[in-house]
Amino acid sequence: MYTLFYGALITPKSLTEYTAAPQALVCVSKVSGNIDWIELDVPSHKFEDTLASYGLVNLRDFEFIELKHGEFIMPGFIDTHFHPCQVPNIGSGQEYELLDWLKHYTYPLEAKFKDKSFAKRVYTTVVRRIVDAGTTTCCYFGSVHEGATKILADLVHAAGQRAFVGKCNVDREAPDYYVEPSPAASVQSTLSVISHIRGLTPHPSSALVQPVLTPRFAMTCTPELLSKLSELVLSDPGLTIQTHIDENRDEIAYTKSLFKDVLPPPPDGEERCEITYAGVYDAYNLLRENTVLAHAVYLEEEEIELIHRRKAGVSHCPTSNFNLRSGYAKIGVLLDRGIKVGLGTDVSGGYSLSILTAIQHASIASKLVVLDHERSSSAKGTFASKQLSIPTLLYLATQGGADVCNIGGRVGSLKPGKAFDALLVSMNSDAGNPEVWGADLDRELGTIPGDEKRAGQEAKRSELKAQLERFFFCGDNRNIRRVYVQGKFVGGKEFKV
Ligand code: GUN
Ligand code: FE
Repeated sequence: MYTLFYGALITPKSLTEYTAAPQALVCVSKVSGNIDWIELDVPSHKFEDTLASYGLVNLRDFEFIELKHGEFIMPGFIDTHFHPCQVPNIGSGQEYELLDWLKHYTYPLEAKFKDKSFAKRVYTTVVRRIVDAGTTTCCYFGSVHEGATKILADLVHAAGQRAFVGKCNVDREAPDYYVEPSPAASVQSTLSVISHIRGLTPHPSSALVQPVLTPRFAMTCTPELLSKLSELVLSDPGLTIQTHIDENRDEIAYTKSLFKDVLPPPPDGEERCEITYAGVYDAYNLLRENTVLAHAVYLEEEEIELIHRRKAGVSHCPTSNFNLRSGYAKIGVLLDRGIKVGLGTDVSGGYSLSILTAIQHASIASKLVVLDHERSSSAKGTFASKQLSIPTLLYLATQGGADVCNIGGRVGSLKPGKAFDALLVSMNSDAGNPEVWGADLDRELGTIPGDEKRAGQEAKRSELKAQLERFFFCGDNRNIRRVYVQGKFVGGKEFKV
């Protein structure tokens, strides 16, 4: 009936604070997959009384998982931007910037997904890998193909991952072999994918796998196609949307040149001055509370205001932004303005499926921004002038991503009533990751980081915080023992297919 976890727990509280509880007790309902209750401080002598106070006296009522020292549970990672159809290209083509990279490497690979048996083989391994990397919710940016995207949705559904799955729309500005035959055909196959996904379960609105509208980026969509997508969104306002924005300077200039004379008037009587990239999406009703905007490296002030007003979210993809030499996004500025931000791997612009890599590069990108600020001394605001802290990085990787996907009330942190989407992490030497200085060695040799002398519970808490930081910067899949989605054990090192 219940799964009980007893041991260390980490969960975000806000952009600046998180809970690190060395002796927590978490009760997960096996029926709903939701967290029933959490007690944050349960010393061993109070263990039985605590269970009894919740009416749990019979051992047969629960599965008990006791964490060892060096292990903790935390919310699963949320990858807000991932191209599953680019995984075989990881590590290739990184000499190019965006537009040449798309032309020479990306479109040729994505075109192969026309072949459904190819798609099935690639997607089977991709889904397994991304679940085992600790990604409990993933925004999948599929190829243009209806058949391949349905196969992807089936595989994600079977794997038990929470996800948004979309077939991308491309009706111009790509090689002929990758352009859809017409705006109508593009919308038709999009609708077919949406209804396929909603047909996967009897209760589509609470299903783990949701459809997502996926106009690739403004450039590859004609005004006619965007108008049709706008109608689709107005008739189905709950539909999540994902796309790219302001990633690369050449892309931005070209996008503006394509749309400057053709934009319809602003949707709600607002004035438009100069054309902006965000303004293009907004003109077609695509900038909404449930829109995920990948990259946002070069947002103009007017766009920041517009995105904030529309309550859209940003997927920060620092690995890709460095790797394709796009730039580095000023995430602190967006956080100061109250814009929702999550992290994205953006494979294969990014070269790692793990959100841990995105965390590392988000940290480095924020340090570059600080160095720039110091030079220009323009630093203002709580986040803009500082590097992203560990609490902020944790938030972006979990709750921030959930908020960007508009499911922040359901996942993103460990709280009663929320789904148990979580990782069981081991930072001990026997996890087999030689990059990590084991928590067991800390105990044995007294190598706990920091020089503060603390006692008792405080010492345990600071040890746990040190383990989280090590996990972020030295950890990998080997440290992820188990991955849970909606209370179900679905992946990680211990998982057997
Ligand atoms: N813009 C349009 N398509 C893509 C893509 O596949 N990757 C990235 N990084 N940017 C894009
Ligand atoms: Fe992308």
